[in-house]
Amino acid sequence: MNEEYGLLDPDNADAPGDEWEEIDVSDTEADRIARRRDREFNQFRERIKDSEQFKVEQSVFDDATLAALYKLVQDGYVQAFGGPISSGKEATVYSALGDDDEHEEVAVKIYRISASNFRDMREYLVGDPRFEELGGDKKRIVLAWVRKEFANLERARKAGVRVPEPIAVQRNVLVMEFMGNDGRRAPTLADARLENPRTAFEVVREYMRRLFDAGLVHGDLSEYNILVSNGELCIIDVGQAVTFHHPNSGEFLTRDCVNVASFFRREGIDIHGDELEAWIRENAESER
Ligand SMILES: Nc1ncnc2c1ncn2[C@@H]1O[C@H](COP(=O)(O)OP(=O)(O)O)[C@@H](O)[C@H]1O
Ligand SMILES: [Mg+2]
Repeated sequence: MNEEYGLLDPDNADAPGDEWEEIDVSDTEADRIARRRDREFNQFRERIKDSEQFKVEQSVFDDATLAALYKLVQDGYVQAFGGPISSGKEATVYSALGDDDEHEEVAVKIYRISASNFRDMREYLVGDPRFEELGGDKKRIVLAWVRKEFANLERARKAGVRVPEPIAVQRNVLVMEFMGNDGRRAPTLADARLENPRTAFEVVREYMRRLFDAGLVHGDLSEYNILVSNGELCIIDVGQAVTFHHPNSGEFLTRDCVNVASFFRREGIDIHGDELEAWIRENAESER
């Protein structure tokens, strides 16, 4: 089992919750670039500000966000930015050209620091010692959040859950595998037409169990955070996912189960949240 899903050894240094304890989020390379403002960065900045696809964003990105994009281009993770895919409360997701054959197209998730909705994040932050150390500093919290999303994507992959492959993180920007085909993004489970809801349910249930076994609870799981990409289900939006250390992880699991069960009930599957949660707990390899 351990081998099949790459489960983490709890004694390992990479145990849940340890990923970024030592990470300094107070100053990043992007912040330094924004301060230095050399000619090359200034040119990049003007080009981005003039480009059509970024005009859609009501609040033009601040210099440090532009510097993060610049750094990602410099480091070769992104060649060119495409249009926006989605604009949510905390982040806007863009499509972009990746730099090698492996990642021809990538998704770039840009978190807003000034406009980020703290109230919505708070529920996941309170009680998590990793965040409490950051105090109330909004920028540091958003930066830590993005790193957590990256770490959670890695952890989910190791646990055998289909998620976008995380590629790079820079300040408030996350680059990941683009889910879709021929430049068209994959629909969410809410928008896709399911030919076989029973099988889809079983896959989602198994992914929830694997996450749980890897010590993670998604915390915002619903038909809106599951994509159907080339016939495969893919879990997204794992920034808020918590480890079982979090005091509310049980409550989050219950809520995820209720959301997932009500979606599949509408698809004709006879399932309730409590039954789904019981199944996950009963079938978990680990005991918690
Ligand atoms: N890796 C990806 N590939 C393709 N589309 C994506 C990807 N990540 C996000 N999206 C699209 O962007 C939307 C918002 O992304 P999500 O991570 O759920 O952010 P939010 O916090 O705004 O809900 C998703 O519903 C999906 O349509
Ligand atoms: Mg989402």
